Amino acid sequence: MIQVPRGTQDILPKESYKWQFIEKKLHEIAKNYNYDEIRTPMFESTDLFVRAVGGSTDIVNKEMYTFQDKGDRSLTLRPEGTAPVARSYIENKMQHNVEQPVKLFYVAPMFRYERKQKGRYRQFVQFGVEAIGVEDPLIDVEILSMLMHIYQSFGLKNLKLVINSIGDIDSRTQYNKALVEHFSPRIDEFCHDCQTRIDSNPMRILDCKKDHDHELVKSAPRIYDYLNDESKAYFETVKAKLDELDIKYEVDYNLVRGLDYYTHTAFELMSDAEGFGAITTLCGGGRYNGLLEMIDGPAKTGIGFALSIERLLLALEAEGIDIPENKGIDIYVCTMTDQARDTAGTLLHKLRSRGVSADMDYENRKLKAQMKDADRKKARYTIVLGEDELQSSQAELKEMATGETKKLSFEEIINTLEEL
Ligand code: HAM
Repeated sequence: MIQVPRGTQDILPKESYKWQFIEKKLHEIAKNYNYDEIRTPMFESTDLFVRAVGGSTDIVNKEMYTFQDKGDRSLTLRPEGTAPVARSYIENKMQHNVEQPVKLFYVAPMFRYERKQKGRYRQFVQFGVEAIGVEDPLIDVEILSMLMHIYQSFGLKNLKLVINSIGDIDSRTQYNKALVEHFSPRIDEFCHDCQTRIDSNPMRILDCKKDHDHELVKSAPRIYDYLNDESKAYFETVKAKLDELDIKYEVDYNLVRGLDYYTHTAFELMSDAEGFGAITTLCGGGRYNGLLEMIDGPAKTGIGFALSIERLLLALEAEGIDIPENKGIDIYVCTMTDQARDTAGTLLHKLRSRGVSADMDYENRKLKAQMKDADRKKARYTIVLGEDELQSSQAELKEMATGETKKLSFEEIINTLEEL
């Protein structure tokens, strides 16, 4: 039997209403903050991710779904949304838009060849936002406040916002030098990946899951001490504004993020909820001041975050928060005879074309079973069509919640439901 590919899932109707609810809310919150939707292709030139996300990252080295197309181009299913949005900003010359920053959001599937684990999929849906074109701590704070707003609006409580500053390119270069000096003498005690990271991207050693508890990780120099005055001032302003808004956070100097494009503000939102699982990160993001230039764009800066709906759902489940089910249909038409079934078909056609949601029995079931079906479909009203009803073109419209009935012509039934 052919099965769904490893690390992917079917989202069946008993779950898809939750996705609809979440996506609708995310669209509404994006609108509150004045972010507009962007849709980019599901695949891009491989080169985009190699240059933007970084050749030394796990994403590029191990996790990309890369293939040659029939024209011998190397393409990659997008593993994340920031690089494609940056590519589109450059290609569509959005730096000339009258309004800056350009504020965009997306809800889109991403693909990473990762080991399957609770909360980790090979295809997952990210909601992400990007504000590109202006460097201002106020925008960093807007992004962080939107992030917290999203999670809190679902009623989640066990949240921990962790922030750090990676500084500008200059600070980062100084810091990387210090890390190389710190780790080099004993790098052979570290995992194979870290032994490569010391040359390609020493900061990533701080984030290694295998070497997390090594004493040298704990005693590593702190990035804060290597931030130049400008970077420090930027970080201090962001923190002060977060305090003003009473947005709670912790500073973690070891937070470096898994993608290479970050500068200054970097952050992750974690779930503290019991039962959420081992992967506690709900959302990650940060500022990326050099990214556009890295892919031949203008010297414009940006900041954003992305969360996966899969992990948001896990967090809701862990905190016992239910998502309201979709409402049922407006009317269920029960039928007693074959002829009544024909008439019901015509009636449904008219009801639906006037915007009323309606259904009937297609399995020739007994009236009792049809009533049960109407209940299952959460029908607000029912009618029963038999010979009398066909002759008189009238039926008893029954409101299921109250049991109240009213005899009406078919046309009156349609009009009543359309008005409701
Ligand atoms: P990221 O940290 O790689 O950042 O991913 C962001 C979020 O996507 C994670 O916090 C998690 O919720 C979700 N996620 C990542 N991998 C998986 C997976 N395999 N299964 C389920 N969920 C996953 C980025 O992607 C950046 N583009 C975020 C960003 C936007 N930075 C600036 N702007």
